[in-house]
Amino acid sequence: MLTKVYVKKDLEDKKVQLDIKYTLLSGRNVIFPTETVYGIGAYALSEAGVKGIYNVKGRPSDNPLIMHLSSTKDLLKYTKNHQPYVSKLIDAFWPGPLTMVFDKTDIVPYMITGGLDTIGIRIPSNDIALTILNIAGIPICAPSANISGRPSSTLVEHVIEDFNNKVDIIIDGGKSQVGIESTVLDVRNEIPVILRPGMITREMIKKVTNEVLISDHAKSDEIPKAPGMKYKHYAPKGKLTIVKGNQSAVVKYINQQLDYHKANGFKTGVICTNESKNLFNTNHVFSIGNESNEEEIASNLFVALREMDYQNIDYIYSLSFHNGYYSEAIMNRLLKAANQNVITIN
Ligand code: TXA
Ligand code: MG
Repeated sequence: MLTKVYVKKDLEDKKVQLDIKYTLLSGRNVIFPTETVYGIGAYALSEAGVKGIYNVKGRPSDNPLIMHLSSTKDLLKYTKNHQPYVSKLIDAFWPGPLTMVFDKTDIVPYMITGGLDTIGIRIPSNDIALTILNIAGIPICAPSANISGRPSSTLVEHVIEDFNNKVDIIIDGGKSQVGIESTVLDVRNEIPVILRPGMITREMIKKVTNEVLISDHAKSDEIPKAPGMKYKHYAPKGKLTIVKGNQSAVVKYINQQLDYHKANGFKTGVICTNESKNLFNTNHVFSIGNESNEEEIASNLFVALREMDYQNIDYIYSLSFHNGYYSEAIMNRLLKAANQNVITIN
């Protein structure tokens, strides 16, 4: 199959619009940008389209997909039994990087929910994503556009690396603004529960609902409630170690490790900040932003992990980002990428 790549301007063309619409309606896949990460989309009610996603991603069939809508107009067609706080969450965070898990209605096929009686829904804020939802006029389920186990795609280059000539259409929307996937929130009970942390934080949700819980596995790697959380994630090919502690001790430790691995003929790399990027003894330093700019750090995290693979790095060391407002989300992804491998240096 030959993949067509469109850019934003192409979406003004009626022929392109029809191409996207009929590709989806006929059960094939379109990769499109969202504000969080790129998604690989299928018409949610098309068995062929949904199967296509699982096949091409290599995704386990019990891991449910998020349904994307362009407005709340059809929300009650697909979900039921809303808690009173749901409308407040919608007002506060949609469109945006929040997925809410509801009881599903009968129309929603079990194939997209991994056999569960629930469905995760979000309205994305990215204008290309909204345009596509509006052009197609259908619900689109879309997991992150990466081969299962790899870091999510936040650049079109990542998408092309994983899916060129494996899907019909890729839409290039440039770099993803948020850079990590949506917060997944179970809204079926009196108190909502965060299943996957994201840039809509616990504090932000609490301001709206007064109370919020976070599921244990979202903090550590225990029995997962969001089925996707139990699988290997975001892993770069090299061995990633997060090093925590005071900065000079951390830099000293990492440099010792870099020297040791280099002496044994391995390639080394470091993921760090602008403030520390000149301190490391390796040619492969990737700064993910200013220490104080967590949004920038989040948006570059998956870029850094993929970059380490492009450079064929064997041993990767990363600073820890555990002290900020968004650290729950950032560290969740980084810890998974490192397979929970953290060293604390005092
Ligand atoms: O930002 C995002 O959410 C991106 C963009 C493309 O929208 N999508 C995304 O999808 O990250 P995916 O499939 O890579 O991750 C969805 C996560 C998985 O961990 C999945 O298990 C969980 O959400 N999830 C989806 N539906 C669920 C449900 N009904 N109950 C519990 N967890 C659910
Ligand atoms: Mg994913």
